[in-house]
Amino acid sequence: MEQKQTINFGAGPAKLPQSVLLQAQKELLNYSGLGISVLGSDLCLHRDIPDNYKVLFLQGGGSGQFSAVPLNLIGLKEDRCADYLVTGTWSAKAAKEAEKYGKVNIVHPKLESYTKIPDPSSWTLNPSASYVYYCCNETVNGVEYNFTPETNGVVLISDMSSNFLSRPIDVSKVTVKQIFLFLFVLFQTGVFDSSAGVTVVIVREDLLGHALKECPIVLDYKVQAEMNSLYNTPPCFRSVGGMRASLYNAVTLEDTAALADYMKVFLKEHQLTN
Ligand SMILES: Cc1ncc(COP(=O)(O)O)c(C=O)c1O
Repeated sequence: MEQKQTINFGAGPAKLPQSVLLQAQKELLNYSGLGISVLGSDLCLHRDIPDNYKVLFLQGGGSGQFSAVPLNLIGLKEDRCADYLVTGTWSAKAAKEAEKYGKVNIVHPKLESYTKIPDPSSWTLNPSASYVYYCCNETVNGVEYNFTPETNGVVLISDMSSNFLSRPIDVSKVTVKQIFLFLFVLFQTGVFDSSAGVTVVIVREDLLGHALKECPIVLDYKVQAEMNSLYNTPPCFRSVGGMRASLYNAVTLEDTAALADYMKVFLKEHQLTN
């Protein structure tokens, strides 16, 4: 059956060349000859996220979340303090950012170098901390946790920017143990712009609505959850009197001619006559 091709002039996920789409189609069932589907592993993750979690697609990259986490969650308990495990440069940056908004307790003796995870027996967790923060895989230093930290019921924040989807995460199983309550990840897609693509935040519903009053509205998880992550103006924005067509590299000359034809028809149909 002959298929009609729809031309995408959207500024968001832009048009991809046909050859790229065909390659992706081929690899959907068998990625790089490995016999597994990337899509399949992604679906596994979704299946494992319980209904009482929100999945947010945000801007600002991992660094944005270094601020968003304390702004949203350090006020969960009245002491306004948080426990941090600092095992590399990313968690060090996150802890430094959190210091602006509350009291930060580094739970283990200071590390001379970032080469291993300090033994949990050396940790001093504060039971009145609003959350415990760790970076699951320190990308720069190459230090990865092979276990989920036990926090005795305190909210756990995991930066999974560089190991998300590298293995299944059974969020529901750990939820039962009341430890794995939140995680954030980011996709450095490079597709949308030269910096990080979209940051995925998976957050348990009852943790929404505790943001500090100084939290910028775009970083407020509750606001973003209520707006289906669309607080910012969507790329295909249509205002009164205007429509946007984006002409990126993969949009062909024929596509552009089709757009011009459509614009002429549109003009004829909608032109105001005095
Ligand atoms: C583990 C981890 N966390 C946070 C970040 C910071 O992300 P961004 O550069 O998007 O702010 C990175 C970046 O590579 C990272 O690898």
